[in-house]
Amino acid sequence: MSSEVSIYANSIDKVFPVYEKPHHRLLQMMSSRSAKHRWYREFTALRDISFEVKKGETVGIVGRNGSGKSTLLQIICGTLTPTAGDLQVNGRIAALLELGAGFNPDFTGRENVFLNGTVLGLTRQQIEDRFDDIAAFADIGEFIEQPVKSYSSGMYVRLAFSVAIHVTPDILVVDEALAVGDEAFQRKCFARIEKIRREGATVLFVSHSAGTVLELCNRAILLDRGEMLYSGSPKRTISHYQKMLYAPAERVAAIREEIRESTAAEQLTTVMNKVGGKDTPDAPDAKAAESSSPNPSESASAYDLAWHDDHLLPQSTLRYVRSGAEIKDAHLQTISGERVNVLRPGEEYVYVYDVDFDRTAAGVQFGMLIKTVSGVELGGGVSAPAHAAIEIVEAGERRRAKFRFRCLLAPGTYFLNAGVRGRIDQEETFLDRVVDIAMFRVAPDSDRIATGMVDFDIRSSVANLGHMSA
Ligand SMILES: Nc1ncnc2c1ncn2[C@@H]1O[C@H](COP(=O)(O)OP(=O)(O)O)[C@@H](O)[C@H]1O
Ligand SMILES: [Mg+2]
Repeated sequence: MSSEVSIYANSIDKVFPVYEKPHHRLLQMMSSRSAKHRWYREFTALRDISFEVKKGETVGIVGRNGSGKSTLLQIICGTLTPTAGDLQVNGRIAALLELGAGFNPDFTGRENVFLNGTVLGLTRQQIEDRFDDIAAFADIGEFIEQPVKSYSSGMYVRLAFSVAIHVTPDILVVDEALAVGDEAFQRKCFARIEKIRREGATVLFVSHSAGTVLELCNRAILLDRGEMLYSGSPKRTISHYQKMLYAPAERVAAIREEIRESTAAEQLTTVMNKVGGKDTPDAPDAKAAESSSPNPSESASAYDLAWHDDHLLPQSTLRYVRSGAEIKDAHLQTISGERVNVLRPGEEYVYVYDVDFDRTAAGVQFGMLIKTVSGVELGGGVSAPAHAAIEIVEAGERRRAKFRFRCLLAPGTYFLNAGVRGRIDQEETFLDRVVDIAMFRVAPDSDRIATGMVDFDIRSSVANLGHMSA
């Protein structure tokens, strides 16, 4: 294996025996090798997985639940052995696998740091030197002296991640574990991953967040039912993954086939380019996939796409006391009606919510507001001015409010409010009002020239006025 390669996987299969009843495992153990009856059936969790990760690459692994992501990471880390195939790993691996792996529950946090650090190849002195940093990053206070079994899942992840990043790994492997922590801690972790990456380590991580994969990875792999359905640029992998994720059940098989075909087409073009000398033989896959796009407009659309990040849920939602109506299902859509919460700057979107009226109300107005993380009110609007409000909405009716707007905001995170006003028994009041009912992110845009919070569509020109005369 070339020293430039961190992870080399060739045709890996993983087959698990599955026992219908717990005692079948015992029966199997007791039956002779030549016995005809098997007490288990075989389940193939991974089939024919081949890929190579170069030193310093950051690779994302995506796929629906049960597609084999964790199994693959465990094989790479050596906690599972493949049933068939070849795996070679070059360098020290630190892993943050799903909960349950790694720590001894009866030992304290401190003891586990030493245990874990030793397993990862550090000397006692090295761990001692780093212990304060590890504890500070984990930020779990006095719990560091408590047995790990008393930890919440969040504390567990904090400590495990902190150890993983402080052993200066050559390869950092992170399963979905990070999703457990709170948003602030996740940010801190991703900043660290970024740093580790810049220092030249190889990073492999599983994520459900399209945004994270697009922002951090050089390349991504899409697993589906144990098959490596696609490997290529993060943009294309995510776009394939999302197609699978949001497809109605009866479309999934067809989409799977389309993705397989697009892989085959890309491989063919790559080979043709190589034969034609357009590509260097050792160009990274991502680049090859990119430059060999069979349909250039397709990759452009995948890049320009807004998407939905399931992790983007506000934790600060506040509902005022309702009086007569209830706001439901507040979300953002593209103009064509797809639900999104990571927006592309400059595009138009629609903010939508439904309102169920349980009392008859007069002079009804629907409102919205966009705010920053720190609560600055950036802008909003109402469905109509007071004199043009809806005259009467009867009890039992449902109304849908839509607000179309152009996303003129700087990349970052924003929150949405929703409110309905009206008169009940002559009295003007909020019928329902929810603060931080939804949140969204504006994706970074490398072509952005605007500064500050709002893009005023400033067009600039700079003229050369020649030399100043004395
Ligand atoms: N030890 C095991 N025995 C039997 N089946 C397993 C075992 N571990 C995982 N599987 C199965 O393998 C498939 C892939 O699991 P996993 O790698 O955890 O998926 P993911 O991480 O993508 O959600 C699942 O169908 C899961 O039920
Ligand atoms: Mg998993």
